[in-house]
Amino acid sequence: MTPDRTPTKSRHDQKEQDDQKGRTSTRRSFLKVAGISVGTLAIAGAAGLTWRAVDGGVFASGTGEAFAAWAEAGPDAHDALGLVRAAVLAANAHNAQPWQFRVADNRIDVFADTTRNLGTMDPLLREMDVSLGCAIENIVVAAPVNGKTATVTLLPDPADPTHVARIDLQAAEASVSPLFTAITGRHTDRNGYDLTRPVGAAELALLSAAVDAPETELVWFTTPAEKDAFGALTVRATEAIIADPQQVADDAAWYRTDWHEVQSKKDGITIDPSGQSEFIRAVSKVIPVSTAQNNAGWLAGTRDSQIPTAAAFGALLVRDPLDTGQRLSVGRAWQRLHLSMTVDGLRAQPLCQIPERIDRERSTGLNPDFSDALAALLPAGRHAIMTFRIGYPTGEALPSPRRPAREVVLS
Ligand SMILES: Cc1cc2nc3c(=O)[nH]c(=O)nc-3n(C[C@H](O)[C@H](O)[C@H](O)COP(=O)(O)O)c2cc1C
Repeated sequence: MTPDRTPTKSRHDQKEQDDQKGRTSTRRSFLKVAGISVGTLAIAGAAGLTWRAVDGGVFASGTGEAFAAWAEAGPDAHDALGLVRAAVLAANAHNAQPWQFRVADNRIDVFADTTRNLGTMDPLLREMDVSLGCAIENIVVAAPVNGKTATVTLLPDPADPTHVARIDLQAAEASVSPLFTAITGRHTDRNGYDLTRPVGAAELALLSAAVDAPETELVWFTTPAEKDAFGALTVRATEAIIADPQQVADDAAWYRTDWHEVQSKKDGITIDPSGQSEFIRAVSKVIPVSTAQNNAGWLAGTRDSQIPTAAAFGALLVRDPLDTGQRLSVGRAWQRLHLSMTVDGLRAQPLCQIPERIDRERSTGLNPDFSDALAALLPAGRHAIMTFRIGYPTGEALPSPRRPAREVVLS
């Protein structure tokens, strides 16, 4: 099923608005910032811009209104709005937070906010649906803390495809699970992982067992040949995105470098969770980096750090990649999986460049280059709509900003 959820405002339009305000072209400096040049660092050094110079002030990691939501989802939030406080902390593509919630005593309805689409980075809204599934799962995981069990009905209203879930809440004995506790500790970790700590087959099997979503299957890429094939394809997909000006523009529209913009918008990809060193993060908060440097850094980080240090890659598969229900189920599975990993001390990072190129091919009629190459790595008749890497940490994974529950609840 592919419901008509035509975005009411495209990412490209948003970028044009931002360009008019003179902000966009220089602000894409961080997630991909490993490409920052020696010259830039020299300027930073000359200007005395060390991390210490900005740390502790308004630039300090994870501080300010934009991060307050992470402290609002504790076990003492005893009402339905408390469940939305958990929902907003879910993983979501580009941290666009494409959700709205209608809250009643015994029911929460979840809606897609299609204005928060990713343009050509997500032309078929696959990542939007997966992100909404992640938010739904956090509500399910949080419900017992509020003395409720949650019953989810996906796509309850055929007349409204933006109404992605109705969640009925029934009274039950209150309990706090390890998965609930992990909601505020789960972060996407873009650092390199610990090469001295492999993830064993038994651990991977336990994680697989956590995936019981309908029509969803998890596959792991663990042998050197499988990892090489998936890694090389991800690097090639990254290169293809960087060579596609429209994807570059739509990707960039969600990057936030300016502290005040982070605090007012409370969304998007920010520098602190980028996996870069403290010094690079500090410099990139104050020195503009060109688009070319930015993209070179993204490619280098993917190729030289994220892929070679992955203990394993994984993919969540469905039979019909255009089916909204299957995508929502994959989102639920991913969130549960990532929470389980957090409980186990594991870290994870979605690496979705390949599916992003596949959707670009499908939506524009390009040759099915990445579609065919990924299909060759998967069981016949299955499609990967969420791809990721896992491993043990080498550093801290820092939080991303969030719009708090009160800003995403419909009156
Ligand atoms: C469908 C989907 C696709 C994503 N793709 C990527 C990706 O390709 N690379 C990446 O670094 N993070 C990716 N992410 C992670 C998001 O960027 C991340 O969840 C978001 O920025 C919020 O940060 P948090 O997970 O630390 O709370 C993806 C997440 C989702 C749900």
